[in-house]
Amino acid sequence: EVPGLVDRFGRVAKDLRVSITEKCSLRCTYCMPAEGLPEIPQHRLLSADEIVRLVRIAVEDLGVDQIRFTGGEPLMRRDLEDIVAGCARAVPGTPLSMTTNAVGLEHRAQRLVDAGLTRVNISLDSIDRAHFAELTRRDRLPSVLAGIRAAARAGLAPLKVNAVLMPETLSGAGDLLAWCLAEGVHLRFIEEMPLDADHAWDRSSMVDAQRLLAVLGERFDLAEVGREDPSAPAEEWRVDGGPATVGIIASVTRNFCADCDRTRLTAEGTVRSCLFSDEEVDLRGAMRSGASDEDLAGMWRGAMWNKWAGHGIDTADFEPPQRSMGAIGG
Ligand code: GTP
Ligand code: 5AD
Ligand code: SF4
Repeated sequence: EVPGLVDRFGRVAKDLRVSITEKCSLRCTYCMPAEGLPEIPQHRLLSADEIVRLVRIAVEDLGVDQIRFTGGEPLMRRDLEDIVAGCARAVPGTPLSMTTNAVGLEHRAQRLVDAGLTRVNISLDSIDRAHFAELTRRDRLPSVLAGIRAAARAGLAPLKVNAVLMPETLSGAGDLLAWCLAEGVHLRFIEEMPLDADHAWDRSSMVDAQRLLAVLGERFDLAEVGREDPSAPAEEWRVDGGPATVGIIASVTRNFCADCDRTRLTAEGTVRSCLFSDEEVDLRGAMRSGASDEDLAGMWRGAMWNKWAGHGIDTADFEPPQRSMGAIGG
């Protein structure tokens, strides 16, 4: 048993989220500025080999037991298949998943499965084409729906859809749920967090779990079933007697920080202990100066030991972090 990534509050991080790029094919308002994020010069990005090395250290030396690739949009990296294949070889048996907007996934789902990807979560906020285009500032709904179907065909299961709720999408929440039920994919609604690049997040207009449940309750019969496990972000509700459930990720009004089991790497190779903490530890720099696996593991432990108790969104002195969601990876 390796000594894991523990913090001062006794939490153990076993779930690694690796952001591999800040680029994205969409421009969701709650995540990215309209013009996109400034491009990171190639030499400042982790290479595929560096990602594989850090993933191996996380699993072999630090007790991490699942890996998720995020972005920006992971499909924006042409070497995504190589990254997945390299990780699958380095840490056989460890689940490798990805959170994606599914634009273009149609053409890569099978190759990603062949490389060793086990699961995908797909971000989709509306199945109304005009709404989708307005929210994401790109008219790509058909590509997303084709991506979801291709992922299902390629055997990426269970498929989950993530929907961030905005006041504009609330009225379409029922249609999205009906679509997901018909397609057999699991839907989770997410409360918007103050991680938008424009700092337009507003607590008073945020669509919270309570408001969503009132809207869904007009069309579906919902019964609370709770969390799959204590660190799962979503609380599940049985729909119309089941077997399907719908999840609600109430990160703001019912935060799960006390049970958080995440550690993160940014695309530039820094460890981030919390979505909301700007204190990052630079593993890329250390790695390129010749640090050993043991040195890197020690730095990673130190970064996580200093993790905060929670995001404090509801406290008076809350400040949003410098990085927006597109530069953290969710
Ligand atoms: P599963 O393994 O399928 O449960 O994946 P996941 O839910 O951990 O990953 P996903 O990338 O799908 O994240 C879903 C949503 O959960 C994100 O959009 C965030 O809104 C939220 N989330 C993920 N990680 C954290 C976290 O550490 N803190 C908070 N507050 N929210 C998080
Ligand atoms: N608040 C909550 N979730 C967000 N996501 C992006 N921005 C935000 C935000 N401000 C979600 C995406 C994706 C996941 C990685 O994070 O929809 O599903
Ligand atoms: Fe891109 Fe995902 Fe951010 Fe939307 S939420 S802009 S799809 S990274």
